[in-house]
Amino acid sequence: MSWLIYGANGYTGALVARTAAARGQRPILAGRNRAEVEALARALTLERRVFGLDQPGIVDDALAGVTVVLHCAGPFSRTAGPVADACLRRRVHYLDITGEAAVFESLAARDAEAKAAGVMLLPGAGFDVVPSDCLAAHLKRRLPTATHLALGFQPGGRPSRGTATTMIENLHRGGLVRRGGRLTPVPPAWKTRIIDFGRGPRPAITIPWGDVATAYHSTRIPNVEVYMAAPAALRVAMRLSRYVAPVLASKPVQRFLKARIRAGTPGPTDAERERGKCLLWGEATDEAGGRAVSRMKTPEGYTLTAFAALAIVDKVLGGSAPPGFQTPSRAYGPDFVLGIEGVSREDE
Ligand SMILES: NC(=O)c1ccc[n+]([C@@H]2O[C@H](COP(=O)([O-])OP(=O)(O)OC[C@H]3O[C@@H](n4cnc5c(N)ncnc54)[C@H](OP(=O)(O)O)[C@@H]3O)[C@@H](O)[C@H]2O)c1
Repeated sequence: MSWLIYGANGYTGALVARTAAARGQRPILAGRNRAEVEALARALTLERRVFGLDQPGIVDDALAGVTVVLHCAGPFSRTAGPVADACLRRRVHYLDITGEAAVFESLAARDAEAKAAGVMLLPGAGFDVVPSDCLAAHLKRRLPTATHLALGFQPGGRPSRGTATTMIENLHRGGLVRRGGRLTPVPPAWKTRIIDFGRGPRPAITIPWGDVATAYHSTRIPNVEVYMAAPAALRVAMRLSRYVAPVLASKPVQRFLKARIRAGTPGPTDAERERGKCLLWGEATDEAGGRAVSRMKTPEGYTLTAFAALAIVDKVLGGSAPPGFQTPSRAYGPDFVLGIEGVSREDE
């Protein structure tokens, strides 16, 4: 069965492609950048398909013979729609590595359509949200009466250009939590909380991470907040961004910030990824004072993204792809993440 990586020339797409090739897998490499996709396909001796996402007929044709697409071309607010449309028309399973809450919700809204087509739509097959979603489902299993869920992580390295671009595009939108089952906008860095991720207490701030969307689909816990460990300078900058949101959203400022990002390196080096480790923490509480806390350790975020996405591709190619909108834990259970190299979990 053949499978295709779209955005294979991007930092994360190329990392997934290299990891897959090193394991003897034969994905088709795809993207709109002919020179880069062809160069990578030649280097890894893999098939390639070059196409953009603007013309639906071309995307449909490019998916001929493909069982599952792993979509790595973001920001996904622009690219998830056309790829998911083509997957639904061609009855091809859809995976992506988004962490954007609005993208999760837009794909969740297509659940019935996907079920009717016999297609699995599983966004968030990377660092966000595989480990945190499995942690959320594990906490729900430990405390089935939970009404509140807090998830947090301490990143183990620096972001790629694509991640930084996606963050810049969303900065002016502020924060997001789930309250009473509804996604609720809040100011950036709305709450600060001291969290012990496993190496002592650290200040962490709320961020509009993808789990605000997905944890509810996985657990039905109606109140969800996601925290990220943040040094003082970042906490101050995030709070200040409350007052300059319209400026951050303006075209000249977006252009300037994106040019600064493009001038930087594509992402962490292999050595940096090798050194980095991520720590996750989660807490479920209920109205009766019940509380469950669990922690997780994973490889660095981009390495984990490649490992997690490939583990999900393996599941799909092995015939396990429940139709409809899925989260990682809903499709494969809370312990799925423990089968990924370098991941461990501990209950407090
Ligand atoms: N959830 C997670 O844990 C996680 C982990 C890693 C990455 N990500 C997300 O994945 C995305 C990619 O990150 P990255 O670091 O790989 O970025 P990158 O190095 O900038 O690569 C982006 C890729 O997307 C392609 N692309 C962008 N816009 C496109 C469009 N409109 N049509 C077709 N292709 C398009 C680019 O093609 P060109 O070369 O032609 O521009 C390139 O192949 C980002 O949104 C990032 O936030 C999420």
